[in-house]
Amino acid sequence: MTHILSIDQGTTSSRAILFDEGLRPVAQAQEEFPQHYPRPGWVEHDPSDLWATVAGTARAAIEKAGVAATDIVAIGITNQRETTLIWDRATGEPIHRAIVWQDRRTADGCAALKAAGHEPMITARTGLLLDPYFSGSKIKWLLDTIPGARDRARRGELAFGTVDSFLIWKLTGGRVHATDATNAARTLIFNIATGEWDAEICALLDIPMAILPEVRDCAAFFGTTRADLFGREIPILGVAGDQQAATVGQACFSPGMMKSTYGTGCFALLNTGADRVPSQNRLLTTIAYRLEGRTTYALEGSIFIAGAVVQWLRDGLKIIREAGETQALASAADPAQEVVLVPAFTGLGAPYWRPDCRGAVYGLTRNSGQAELARAALESVGYQTRDLLEAMRADWGGAAGGVLRVDGGMTASDWTMQFLADILGAPVDRPVVTETTALGAAYLAGLKAGICPDPTAFQQSWALERRFSPKMDAETRDRRYARWGRAVTATMSV
Ligand code: G3P
Repeated sequence: MTHILSIDQGTTSSRAILFDEGLRPVAQAQEEFPQHYPRPGWVEHDPSDLWATVAGTARAAIEKAGVAATDIVAIGITNQRETTLIWDRATGEPIHRAIVWQDRRTADGCAALKAAGHEPMITARTGLLLDPYFSGSKIKWLLDTIPGARDRARRGELAFGTVDSFLIWKLTGGRVHATDATNAARTLIFNIATGEWDAEICALLDIPMAILPEVRDCAAFFGTTRADLFGREIPILGVAGDQQAATVGQACFSPGMMKSTYGTGCFALLNTGADRVPSQNRLLTTIAYRLEGRTTYALEGSIFIAGAVVQWLRDGLKIIREAGETQALASAADPAQEVVLVPAFTGLGAPYWRPDCRGAVYGLTRNSGQAELARAALESVGYQTRDLLEAMRADWGGAAGGVLRVDGGMTASDWTMQFLADILGAPVDRPVVTETTALGAAYLAGLKAGICPDPTAFQQSWALERRFSPKMDAETRDRRYARWGRAVTATMSV
């Protein structure tokens, strides 16, 4: 038994990658699923799509690799975080579609709790802010909205889970209701200092604690799969939220190491070791991973739109047919024009936290065209990352993120990575293996299975593909970043 199956359930697609015992990817399958936008600012997923695409891609990856189920030693799960599901324990039927992390429907509820003065207590315990991004207000909305749900929850008839929990439930045929510490840390009801669900916050949100899953380490036994799914029962031994799995996959195991993943959004995590660093600059304090009961913390900056800005160029503006065309278009842009795009399509995340804000473009002239917009779109990702790095340096000291390890689809663009290094004024390292999210989940499962090396040895195996060093002069960097700052300020005032 030498392979590990990694399941990566993301915001727009589900993927499964089969890794061999040397953690080399040998086969993969990916499937997109529909997004539902019932009202402006609302985003939902059909739970049956999440499950069907996970089961389908897992089977497809195994088939492609040509390995038998008996060759798979363990399963690792990683997932879009915060997305909220509630289901009936008896039937396994969800009571509503999943409410996705991007969904803003609870903005007013969060604002009311903030106005009532609850945010400092919640931040001190959870490391998070009163923003609709997190699961807590979404659970409350479901219990408030679905008739009879709160009473059923009180009677222990319903189960809440983030996507990992839901998948564990489905994979084990309803035998296990559990999550890991990193996913729990994104719910707004988990105390990251004690490692337990917080009774007072649950009471404030009127969430009966009977619906909550058991919280386990990231490398732990999460049950075995139903025998009929893959032909034999396979143990689930690794679970982490996707950004935390990427932190593990990037081998950011030492304090001061930082990674940034460019998927739909961009999420930068700085390992702060055993220190739970409270942010003075509106970053999140979160759990990077929990191994053998020991918690390693991180500061996180969450940006909601990164790769999604390229999707907008393709599907909204229709100026490219596929993402790969953006780089050539951006390089052809007129250097004399300084078009700035603030992609606040679903509000602004860290460090601004303005769910109500919407996007804007500045500096248009009669000569501005597709190339200038494409360049502004790619540059917006660099500027937003610089915002996060500035906040991290202010919270943790100048040594924070001396080098940035990057991964995710957008990192394939050399142009974007060079601009990122230029605007950060710091080296940007792209690893050989950019499937770091799936790799991290596979590593956690392999660690528990006893076939992967300890973190120190795993760190040695991380290999650099290319380093992007800053080339922009300091005066230009500062001038351009200051202009971005003014654009964001203006956008927030409209
Ligand atoms: O917090 C949301 C994040 O986990 C989603 O990641 O890669 O699906 O955009 P991704």
